[in-house]
Amino acid sequence: MRHIRANEITGSDGIRDYLAAQEKKSLLRFLTCGSVDDGKSTLIGRLLYDTKLIFDDQLAALERDSKKHGTDGSGIDFALLVDGLEAEREQGITIDVAYRFFATPKRKFIAADAPGHEQYTRNMATGASTADVAVVLIDARQGVLVQTRRHSIIASLLGIRHVVLAVNKIDLVGFDRKVFEQIASTYAAFASSLGFASITPIPMSARYGDNVTKRSDRMRWYCGPTLLDHLESIVVDAIPQSAPFRFPVQYVNRPNLDFRGFAGTIAAGSIGQGDEVVVAQSGKVSRIKRIVTHDGDLARAVEGQAVTVVLEDEVEVSRGNMLVAPMARPNVADQFAANIIWFDEHALLPGRSYILHTETGQAGATVTELKYRIDVNTFSHQAAKGLELNEVGVCNISTQAPIPFDAYGENRNTGSFILIDRMTNATVAAGMILHPLRRATNVHWQVLDIDRKSRAVLKGQKPAVLWFTGLSGSGKSTIANLLEKKLYDAGKHTYILDGDNVRHGLNRDLGFTEADRVENIRRVAEVARLMADAGLIVLVSFISPFRAERQMARELMEPGEFVEVFVDTPFEECAKRDPKGLYARALNGEIKNFTGVDSPYEAPQNADIHLKTAGHSPQDLVEVLEVRLRRGGYS
Ligand code: ADX
Repeated sequence: MRHIRANEITGSDGIRDYLAAQEKKSLLRFLTCGSVDDGKSTLIGRLLYDTKLIFDDQLAALERDSKKHGTDGSGIDFALLVDGLEAEREQGITIDVAYRFFATPKRKFIAADAPGHEQYTRNMATGASTADVAVVLIDARQGVLVQTRRHSIIASLLGIRHVVLAVNKIDLVGFDRKVFEQIASTYAAFASSLGFASITPIPMSARYGDNVTKRSDRMRWYCGPTLLDHLESIVVDAIPQSAPFRFPVQYVNRPNLDFRGFAGTIAAGSIGQGDEVVVAQSGKVSRIKRIVTHDGDLARAVEGQAVTVVLEDEVEVSRGNMLVAPMARPNVADQFAANIIWFDEHALLPGRSYILHTETGQAGATVTELKYRIDVNTFSHQAAKGLELNEVGVCNISTQAPIPFDAYGENRNTGSFILIDRMTNATVAAGMILHPLRRATNVHWQVLDIDRKSRAVLKGQKPAVLWFTGLSGSGKSTIANLLEKKLYDAGKHTYILDGDNVRHGLNRDLGFTEADRVENIRRVAEVARLMADAGLIVLVSFISPFRAERQMARELMEPGEFVEVFVDTPFEECAKRDPKGLYARALNGEIKNFTGVDSPYEAPQNADIHLKTAGHSPQDLVEVLEVRLRRGGYS
């Protein structure tokens, strides 16, 4: 075995030679998972130490630098080593996954190590997204734990087909064959429904090196491979270059009028000059004229290659479009079912709008229905209103615009997505698409002859949604009511949607949990939109305590149509007024989830109109409001 130390390969020639030699070998990506004390780091350290081919993170950093600073062009396939990492960076995930690179004469490896702390599902989902094999560590003294089950389910959802069950610390149970066999059979029984192609249990002691890279003579009863033997020889499904062509356009490259190229990385399949392609979203057809790279034109390009393609015709293609094989097109839909892994401390709330990121771009999205949560111990499907940190479930998702995608089972790149919280920008979930939902695909938008503009013209007004937000008792309804009277007197066509009233009818099934408030606002925003479409000036008076939903409501309306009015009355003042006696009861603990008491109010940060009510009469405030609205051209 040739020994290379990191400092021998820091010169760029060294790296190049080394990588050139490595490039001919096959690459195996594996993920180690387990709890904090299972000995994961020891195992990885042992593998690296024993193979003495430490290709450490320093080199990886150097490699990334050289790429970023444009000293590439040497044909080194750096991307092969770091593409997973880079892709996740681009998607904006904050990752906490250590990648280790090493090689033996037979194979090269990327080991992703997801730390076993609180946020392990996020790290694991991130590290696992490109892994071929999951090495699931088990402490022989502990056996199969809840975490083992959770990690295994996630590995299976992420499409990892092969598992190594590393039964570690076997020395601490006296190299006992029975203990090992018991763990292996418990795991096999539990994992039988997870669809792994292989499960390979190996008894080992990472600390002393038994069965990691060297066969142990302390477990003569074990006849299987060592961990390294197994990782060197396991056959994983090769990347099928026969998969249908998928090319998400990252940007349109138009340096001058003579050149218009579409740049991106081929997500699946291959393409050649002259091949026919289709724009997934529009169905427009063209042919590949050129495949351009830094090193000149190519005749063919395959999955993983970053290229710029030029088409023969002037078809409309923009960032976020996907060029695909005409005979095998992806789904283009705005509703689909998906597996979802929730990473955030703040629970998933059906009805809340998140930003969904896919290979091709982003769209506002809501979970329209949480079908079930998967119990990690029994695999049973449980009814649930939301998903908490580290929980896994199946849901239906609706996006604001149709997006192109494949089922995750067919393509990990074009079948996966992440969800981002609109307010915190945190990555809150990873999703794997199961299938499009038929129910929306046959419903088309009906074009009507009388449109919103003609309805507004007839009423002689500019439709608007005046959205009053503030604590209960802050004066929203009083102000809205006074304003409506004035608008009415001025001959305007108006309608008030008031929380208390709408909760007597349309929303009578909803209470005051977070999930119910999200749904409350979603419905009233849709109603407000219809009313604005009908040409009305709509006054919405709801506490609407969450920024995410107010933002969602804003985005539902036409640009400039939504006016957020923050009726800013301090909590103490509202509690003192207490017009309905609710504050007294809430402060006594008789009413749960009361806004400002034990349910949050997220004050607007950039309200269009900020009314500080202290010391002003409602009449004064309405006058201020009128002036502002007139200035904005609303009345
Ligand atoms: S929202 O938070 O979902 O927007 P909404 O405006 O519809 O609330 O309803 C608020 C009204 O319901 C309050 O003005 C109050 O009269 C009544 N109410 C009853 N229980 C609660 C509660 N737990 N929190 C807030 N308001 C409540």
